[in-house]
Amino acid sequence: MRSAFAVLALGAVSARAGSVLWSGFFNSSSSVADFDKWSWSNQIQPWQWYIHGSAATSEYIGMSSSFKNPADTTDAQGIKLTIDGTAFWNGQTMERTEIIPQTTANLGSGHLYYHFSLMTTAANAPNPGYEHQIAFFESHFTELKFGLLSGAQGTSDPTLKWCIGGTPQWNTTLSPSTWYNFAYDIDFSAKTVGLWMSTGSNPLVQTIAPRSASPSTNSADFHIGVLRLPNGGTSAAAEDFYWSGIYVEQAPITTSVAGPNPGSAPSGSAGPTTTVVPTTVPPTTAPVTTTTASGPKQTQWGQCAGNGYTGPTTCASPYKCVAVSPPYYSQCQ
Ligand SMILES: *[C@@H]1O[C@H](CO)[C@@H](O)[C@H](O)[C@H]1NC(C)=O
Ligand SMILES: *[C@@H]1O[C@H](CO)[C@@H](O)[C@H](O)[C@H]1NC(C)=O
Repeated sequence: MRSAFAVLALGAVSARAGSVLWSGFFNSSSSVADFDKWSWSNQIQPWQWYIHGSAATSEYIGMSSSFKNPADTTDAQGIKLTIDGTAFWNGQTMERTEIIPQTTANLGSGHLYYHFSLMTTAANAPNPGYEHQIAFFESHFTELKFGLLSGAQGTSDPTLKWCIGGTPQWNTTLSPSTWYNFAYDIDFSAKTVGLWMSTGSNPLVQTIAPRSASPSTNSADFHIGVLRLPNGGTSAAAEDFYWSGIYVEQAPITTSVAGPNPGSAPSGSAGPTTTVVPTTVPPTTAPVTTTTASGPKQTQWGQCAGNGYTGPTTCASPYKCVAVSPPYYSQCQ
């Protein structure tokens, strides 16, 4: 009787939790060491960890209450995924640090929303000269990309793009210390994909209505993390990507960035002030005053000013340093 009651109770909890099919949330006990417990012969839920370089797991994964979107009160912690010059996996020429759901749930039928929030910082910022594939599926039916796409003209591209089948549909200039909240709107029956997004603590809004796509997943190929294509070379520079609010739910969508179980994370675990993002930055396109001191000059689309930025502040002629997202980011245009 006791075990039957336990099963019934569990069912009741699942029903109340509603439409979450798979949860990648981190509680206050979650640790980097948890990832090393996963192996092919010990496939523990909820995460697989095998796509990474040869260094210790702690070189590629960090966990902290300051690594999450502070508005997300379902997570107690967020995760930092780092890519660097050691991040070659399995003899491949791409640098990769990715975690993948481990679940028996079917994440590939019906109408689902794949949620995650993403942030980068001025420290260990991603290089806009390299293509980065972010939060992708094996077939690349939907994903984010950052930086100069492989084969594209130019030397750098500071935009984060949402793509269907590798083709950009939408973009935004990636500003450091800004939380970008996303949900991929995937209808496996209608064969469409759309995008919901917001920044900071704002609720998700539909950004791109569903468009024709070829969605498919084996429920184990939602790659949370980054694949970097260093244009045929190797980049030793570390790049950090912060993630939180990772889960898959059945329609209808939860738009609150607090998550499906707001307040379930311990209180007082919000991040440091560096992750707080003002939502009402006045727009401006005024050129930033720069000195004409000699020294390295930034190229078109490269960063030239912003909080924490320490690189070249003078643009190569004829470009001007434009504050595209003050005070965080200015670029040569
Ligand atoms: C924390 O999360 C892990 C992984 O989901 C789980 O195994 C563990 O039981 C959780 N701990 C607590 C205290 O909830
Ligand atoms: C970003 O999107 C706009 C609007 O679709 C487009 O004009 C622009 O070329 C895109 N920028 C990049 C760098 O892809």
